[in-house]
Amino acid sequence: MPRKPSTNQHFDALIIGTGASGLTLALHLPKEWKIALVSKGTLDTGSTQWAQGGVAAVLDHGDSIEKHVQDTLTAGAGLCNESAVRFTVENSTESIKWLIDQGVPFTTDSEADFGFHLTREGGHSHRRIIHAADATGRAISDTLIKKIKTKDNITLLEKHTAVDIITSRKLGLPENRCLGAYILNQQSGEVVTIHSQFVGLSTGGAAKTYLYTSNPDGTSGDGIAMAWRAGCRVSNMEFNQFHPTCLYHPHAKNFLISEAVRGEGGRLLLPNGERFMHRFDERKELAPRDIVARAIDHEMKRLGVDHVFLDISHKDDDFIKSHFPTIYKRCLKFGIDITKEAIPVVPAAHYTCGGVKTDHSGRTDIPGLYAIGECAHTGLHGANRLASNSLLECLVYASSAAEHMKQVFNKGLSDVDIPPWDDTQVTDSDEDVVISHNWDEVRRFMWDYVGIVRTSKRLKRAKNRIGLLQDEILEYYSNYKVSNDLLELRNLVMVAQLIIEAAISRKESRGLHFTLDFPDALPAAAETILTPDL
Ligand code: FAD
Ligand code: SIN
Repeated sequence: MPRKPSTNQHFDALIIGTGASGLTLALHLPKEWKIALVSKGTLDTGSTQWAQGGVAAVLDHGDSIEKHVQDTLTAGAGLCNESAVRFTVENSTESIKWLIDQGVPFTTDSEADFGFHLTREGGHSHRRIIHAADATGRAISDTLIKKIKTKDNITLLEKHTAVDIITSRKLGLPENRCLGAYILNQQSGEVVTIHSQFVGLSTGGAAKTYLYTSNPDGTSGDGIAMAWRAGCRVSNMEFNQFHPTCLYHPHAKNFLISEAVRGEGGRLLLPNGERFMHRFDERKELAPRDIVARAIDHEMKRLGVDHVFLDISHKDDDFIKSHFPTIYKRCLKFGIDITKEAIPVVPAAHYTCGGVKTDHSGRTDIPGLYAIGECAHTGLHGANRLASNSLLECLVYASSAAEHMKQVFNKGLSDVDIPPWDDTQVTDSDEDVVISHNWDEVRRFMWDYVGIVRTSKRLKRAKNRIGLLQDEILEYYSNYKVSNDLLELRNLVMVAQLIIEAAISRKESRGLHFTLDFPDALPAAAETILTPDL
């Protein structure tokens, strides 16, 4: 059958991802530009929608940039890039003002310096988390999506999955730069060629590499894998943050119990009702996440139990219901009244601290290609992310990336002839079980061998397994037509391999990377930078 030529579309900027970083980037670009905004689900797919606690920023006269910087550096266990930390925190107040101008309905407090209630989370020496009750991500996402929908220059491509970045190097042309991307239209099955001077990767993290996670479906590290295949370096992939408190219930999928619950006085308890965090850190429940998650993991293993408890029931009922309405209602649905009883909780994979290596403008190693938000590694988070610094990073770097794109925009840049996606050599899959089986297998061994506590032996086992899976999936990818599930699996396995490689190369314990074989930190902290073979 003759091949149907794939469609070509032309834009000034292509943004892949519609979470906090993608939406913010799109809203900061000139309205004269033709922009494509792509999501593999609906516009509200991604982690942003699920963020609870809020956004960290300097918003109180008793607080300061220096204090926020120091808290971030401390949580990052010596591995933060101080210049990235300062850049982010210095731009925090401005970013929040922008969100307020867009109409985000943050919880107010008439007695607070700026009129908004600020909550507290682990590792913060001051109340500095602005929030919309316990559904901050939804408030941000809904508000920004509403704005985006009023923009005539933005083409929305929902249920479209980016397959790969197109670079001039791949086409054998001199002067490597990003030229666009191949994008799968999930409904028609067609792979469209999008030409664009700029591509912004805003694809979120990779916590789905683990069996248990607070993240929604789709966090398969697509942007990190695409950038790696395109030739970008990635850094610090071994630092996977496990949130200490996800709801433990057989019917609850991925439900987080916000750190703000501990910030407002919630206590962690063993099954016998005893508190235990004081035995691990003097900050008790408000120690940084790596310490709390490891303490829970330790106690669960020591006692042979499958969860611990988080109790906020000693606080006033009205306080609980007004500060945590989403958590209250969700737990009640599972028969847990948090005003009267403790919540069963377990740690789960939550945040990818590493990612595509970028600078203050979100630039990657390839001109024209930017990475922003959870898929990027700016150096802000170091070996452990401070709570609520992630949404802040999305906002700050989306704005600086937009500024950079505006500065270097070149209207006269000639369009390159890009070969269409070629699917003449592949057929429809008749063995989708390969995808579901491998998906489960990788997530399970990542949990067992590359989890909260690691050893060299476990990492070696994971490395052997991932090698076999890579071969099988590459063969499958070469023989069958692409689908969203296949693309996610291909990316998930790629990113799992990067995590394992980075974890093996770190011969110390620092922040989120803890290995029994090297339990101490080395005197000097260094990033793990992986460079692709081209
Ligand atoms: P996301 O919001 O994850 O969006 C990713 C987008 O990329 C989606 O639109 C998706 O469809 C799209 N995409 C991915 N791959 C492709 C592809 N191949 N093709 C096309 N589209 C693609 N952080 C805080 O700072 N404060 C909090 O209170 C907080 N609470 C959290 C609570 C939960 C339950 C979770 C899971 C995370 C929380 N975080 C919090 C972390 C924070 O929400 C995320 O780091 C942040 O929202 C990431 O935003 P993003 O724009 O990078 O990506
Ligand atoms: C939470 O509400 O506990 C999540 C905060 C974060 O991940 O930054």
